Amino acid sequence: MTNKNIGVLTSGGDSPGMNATIRAVVRTGIYHGNKISGIKRGYEGMIDGDIEELHLSSVSNVIKYGGTFLKTARCKEFYTKEGRAKAHANLKKFGIDSLIVIGGDGSFRGLHEFTNEFSIQCIGVPGTIDNDLYGTDYTIGFDTAVNTALEAIDKIRDTATSHSRLFIIEVMGRTSGYIGLYTGIGGGAEEILIPETVSDIEKLCKTLKVGRKRGKKSSIIIVAEGDEAGNAFDIKKKIEQLTNYEIKVSVLGHQQRGGSPTAFDRILASRLGYEAVLAIMKDESDKMVGMIHNTVALTSLEETWSKKKGIDEDYLTMADILAI
Ligand code: F6P
Repeated sequence: MTNKNIGVLTSGGDSPGMNATIRAVVRTGIYHGNKISGIKRGYEGMIDGDIEELHLSSVSNVIKYGGTFLKTARCKEFYTKEGRAKAHANLKKFGIDSLIVIGGDGSFRGLHEFTNEFSIQCIGVPGTIDNDLYGTDYTIGFDTAVNTALEAIDKIRDTATSHSRLFIIEVMGRTSGYIGLYTGIGGGAEEILIPETVSDIEKLCKTLKVGRKRGKKSSIIIVAEGDEAGNAFDIKKKIEQLTNYEIKVSVLGHQQRGGSPTAFDRILASRLGYEAVLAIMKDESDKMVGMIHNTVALTSLEETWSKKKGIDEDYLTMADILAI
């Protein structure tokens, strides 16, 4: 048992499973004798003092919902010393002595800065659809986002086949190709363009032509929004210059961020929320709690963004072979 006042917030882009994480933090924290304070709208709510105590019933039936009932924000003011000082003053006012932040790399950078400035104990929980944090095999929300995108890709494949068309489907991931790679493999895409690999459009066109000669009726190219060759519309233009194919573009966008979390994300969120509280109780700080090879792992916050979580080369090779 400990007697801490743990502040919990969600920050940055939301991801399905954030509510399940908050639920796990609240239930585990209270079970072990702590008080849990919910901070609204990420760091914005910390700066504004938008904070209220969460009880066991505050998290009833939230596990199945996408989004985050605490709301979230990308808070520019928290990048400033003044903003962080206001946030710290509010933590003192509300008697909060430790923080659990559910978010991605941007949120963790701010948290690392904050904890070093004010010696506030903190633990990060990886909540982002991008799956781009070093120190965890999967981030909360990634699996749901992939499944949401796959549902759309399957539907697009139907119409692509009926019309013998080439579709370029853009998925999220400004700097990370994980959603692109997983949806590309799962959706049987002919080509996958992601920021981690060099996209060779000439080679891609040659491969498409070979496929057509062999009788392929439709093709799907998955492109991550942050691919270095451009977004889906840029790629379309480049392919049009080299072929006479009729090309349609579909940008999946923010639907990938919403929806009821999958079983995988609910379980990951529950485990990591639970483990985050245990880490706080053991006086751990400035670390992210993640899962590596199905084992709980703590990684320093700084490493989560400074070390690159690479894309598995075997997956890339496999994707190429399966798409012939
Ligand atoms: O949260 C991650 C993410 O969805 C990225 O994949 C995407 O590039 C970005 O957020 C979009 O952010 P916003 O919703 O602020 O436009």
